[in-house]
Amino acid sequence: MATKTPAETEIALQRMVTIYVVTGLLFLVLPGTFLGVWNLVSISGRHSLAGLAPAWLQAHGHAQIFGWIGTFVIGIGYYSLSKMGGLQPVAVSRAWASWALWTGGVTMRWVANVSEFQWRLLLPVSAALQLIAFVIFFVTVSHHKAQPGKTKRAPIETWMKLVIAATIAFLLALILNQVETAVLAATAEHPVIPHWLDQRYLFLAAWGFPVLAVWGFNARWLPVFLGLREPSSRGLLAALGASACGLAAALFGHLQIATVLLLIASILATVSLSVFRRPRKPAKTQGVSAMFPAFVRGAYLWLLIAAALGVYAALADTHGGVWGASRHALTVGFLSTMVFAIGQRVLPAFCGMRLLYSKRLMGASLAILNLGCLLRVASEVPAYEANIRAAWQILPVSAVTELTAVTLFAVNLGITLLLPPPCPAVARPLTGTALSHPS
Ligand code: HEM
Repeated sequence: MATKTPAETEIALQRMVTIYVVTGLLFLVLPGTFLGVWNLVSISGRHSLAGLAPAWLQAHGHAQIFGWIGTFVIGIGYYSLSKMGGLQPVAVSRAWASWALWTGGVTMRWVANVSEFQWRLLLPVSAALQLIAFVIFFVTVSHHKAQPGKTKRAPIETWMKLVIAATIAFLLALILNQVETAVLAATAEHPVIPHWLDQRYLFLAAWGFPVLAVWGFNARWLPVFLGLREPSSRGLLAALGASACGLAAALFGHLQIATVLLLIASILATVSLSVFRRPRKPAKTQGVSAMFPAFVRGAYLWLLIAAALGVYAALADTHGGVWGASRHALTVGFLSTMVFAIGQRVLPAFCGMRLLYSKRLMGASLAILNLGCLLRVASEVPAYEANIRAAWQILPVSAVTELTAVTLFAVNLGITLLLPPPCPAVARPLTGTALSHPS
């Protein structure tokens, strides 16, 4: 086979990451958010979480965490680490293999959960496909070398340690998923993880790899994008330590200890990244919404709210309302705000040196997302826990508000990817490091 030129490899990498992004967006909109809205409207109609098929709730959660966030993380991981050296030609073909297995696995899981069709077979097979896809990614990126031309590996920087920890947490979550689904297929009546186990597993799935990945990428990018001071390495490593202990405590069922440790980790990460300190330099907002820095800071407020609500939930939740509010302050308020903000900042460039289609759509998607999250988090506790009528009426409004935000985000990125790039696709040299030198 003819060897590819650097320019051809670059284009192949951009095409690959574009397909990952489009796949993630599809999981976000339909199996993820649309089903989430459907679930919340049903729960609000019954005035209770009880009675709604838990398999549908779990199908929604899996599609969002693995189908959306997971697909983005794997695609961006392949792209960025390929550019950091060493793996270009082989990474492209492996990335496609991972994509096919991963997309097949996540889709199969959703269908099995929602329809219960052949679920005893589909559930463990779907977990195996996801695990194999991720192992290919894991093996590929763990062999990545330093910059081409440099023989010695540089010491591992703190942001990279966080990203490595996130990758390990991701692998652990998928191994647990494999074991859980095999046990369910052999013993359960429906494709539903029992509540006690699901609750522990969700700590790893939500607070594990997505949060650690955000802290890692933020440590690399926020000093450039927001002009923040360089993060404190010691503080970030302390946050990582507290978070790892919190996740371990959650897996063993010590939820009060786990939530306190995750609160400590969140405070440490926020302080160490200097998110709320006066920036050193002006933020770089060219090509994106001028509110970009405010939304990134707002995401950290949501992180602290999610962590504090988690402590409250472990002490006082009776009907799932405080856990739900904490989970969505984290997944919608922190993670989704961060992906909407940073994603619209970096993905157009990764996917072929494009410019974001609309700064105003970006600002609108983020503002509406935050409004929806505020309505949701503020009304879920009084509705579920105290059965307050007005709060039950706000919940469906919050769901539709969040769906609107998600649609705007997907439309903005979708049009960005459909329109031809303003400059030739290979504007950035292949040896440029997307992660090392964010521009
Ligand atoms: C339109 C936005 C969303 C709506 C309307 C929604 C709705 C829901 C509902 C009704 C539940 C059941 C538990 C509860 O009542 O709190 C739930 C659970 C969950 N959601 Fe969402 N959600 C949305 C967005 C998201 C996002 C963006 C993520 C992740 C990135 C996410 C992750 C989860 C997870 C992990 C669960 C737990 C599933 C389980 O019990 O195993 N959700 N969601």
